[in-house]
Amino acid sequence: MDKTLLIAKIKDGTVIDHISPGKSFKVLSILNIDSSIGYTVTVAVHVPSKKMGFKDIVKIEGRFLEKEELDRISLAAPNAAISIIRNYEITEKFHVEIPEEITGIIDCPNQNCISNAREPVKPRFLVRSKNPLSLKCYYCERLINENEILQNL
Ligand SMILES: Nc1ncnc2c1ncn2[C@@H]1O[C@H](COP(=O)(O)OP(=O)(O)OP(=O)(O)O)[C@@H](O)[C@H]1O
Ligand SMILES: [Mg+2]
Ligand SMILES: [Zn+2]
Repeated sequence: MDKTLLIAKIKDGTVIDHISPGKSFKVLSILNIDSSIGYTVTVAVHVPSKKMGFKDIVKIEGRFLEKEELDRISLAAPNAAISIIRNYEITEKFHVEIPEEITGIIDCPNQNCISNAREPVKPRFLVRSKNPLSLKCYYCERLINENEILQNL
């Protein structure tokens, strides 16, 4: 018996590979992929990986990601590898990278922070540590940990 199952390749689109196991759900929500989408998305959760032990994979037909989407994904899945597919072939491959500064993506949990006031001050965080992920508010210096970041993405 042949124990392999082949999933159709995508013609044009994006593969997000090496997602930490279980984090593909977060990646889908970051990309607003829900039951109403009109394109094909293939998701693999907790598949064995030589490099990572286990990993998730998301393959999206017909969609190419914006810088801000890649930045958000880097916070949820810092090891993610992005492959751009054109005419069934990988034309570009790169890793997401946690930016040094995260602006306008995560709100500061400190209600008294100036970034939560009515003034148009965008929330802004500096990266204090990448592993484990920890950010510091540029304005009030409040620290936020990985769990708070994930809830906020
Ligand atoms: N046309 C395609 N449609 C869907 N997925 C594709 C297509 N081409 C490549 N992929 C997927 O893109 C990812 C990266 O492909 P690549 O061949 O670089 O993998 P690899 O050799 O396993 O590299 P890595 O070291 O990143 O694991 C894999 O998950 C592969 O299955
Ligand atoms: Mg591989
Ligand atoms: Zn703050």
